[in-house]
Amino acid sequence: MGQAMRIQGSVALVTGSNRGLGLAFAEELRNRGVKVYAAARNPDSIDLPGVVPVRLDVTDAAVIQEAADRCGDVTLLVNNAGIGTVNEGTLDPAFIDSSREMFETNFYGMVRVSQVFGPIIAQNGGGAIINVLSDATWFSRPIVASYSATKSAAWSFTNALRLDLRGEGVQVVGLHAGFIDTDLARGIDAEKSRPRDVAATALEGLENGKEEVLADEQSRLVKSTLSTDRGYYLDPPDIV
Ligand SMILES: NC(=O)c1ccc[n+]([C@@H]2O[C@H](COP(=O)([O-])OP(=O)(O)OC[C@H]3O[C@@H](n4cnc5c(N)ncnc54)[C@H](OP(=O)(O)O)[C@@H]3O)[C@@H](O)[C@H]2O)c1
Repeated sequence: MGQAMRIQGSVALVTGSNRGLGLAFAEELRNRGVKVYAAARNPDSIDLPGVVPVRLDVTDAAVIQEAADRCGDVTLLVNNAGIGTVNEGTLDPAFIDSSREMFETNFYGMVRVSQVFGPIIAQNGGGAIINVLSDATWFSRPIVASYSATKSAAWSFTNALRLDLRGEGVQVVGLHAGFIDTDLARGIDAEKSRPRDVAATALEGLENGKEEVLADEQSRLVKSTLSTDRGYYLDPPDIV
């Protein structure tokens, strides 16, 4: 493990920061006195004083490069943008197309943004990347099988990215959480964390030198059963 990132004095870019967890990250970072590039597909949808709105669609390489040209002083990247749509199950004929769409955002989007901003952070003397994953990294259900697959793949990428960037002074953090109270989990009747608590826990972990943050009880539970005979993923409880 390298040296822990100091948030104070850093320059942050948060993808998908117009709402949900991304907005909470932008707000938490702004409240710590950090310069924040609040990135969104539509920068006009950024409604947070004290941040710099930036246009960034994680599926569009040219737009990511434009953002990088504008934000050359970034030292902390939060790969937050993500989508989650449901299918009828793994045998649903729509499964492949909807998986591709989710992979474009949740996996390749993370890869694209990391490939552009990782070297920028390294050139700026080091810093950190937080990749927003999920407890769904470690289990699946038929209706969210493609979403879970994107998060498992993004976890795998995160683990390799960490090794590539560690020597460059870039701390790569995988952030896992169960349900968070945002639009993505709207309509789901389950216990949900507050976005601001998840963001604050991630930033605290970052400053404590962590390379993986389990932001809530649910993500800790799911991960802790992986090495048991009957992992959580074998019998996940139904959700409404
Ligand atoms: N909510 C949960 O229960 C939960 C649990 C664990 C992990 N997560 C993860 O947390 C992250 C944030 O999700 P959320 O819960 O805050 O969901 P959300 O409220 O639906 O917000 C998703 C954000 O991602 C942005 N986005 C989607 N596609 C994008 C693209 N191609 N380029 C740039 N931005 C894009 C959205 O922008 P637009 O407004 O333009 O659509 C929005 O800002 C995701 O990675 C999600 O998988 C969520």
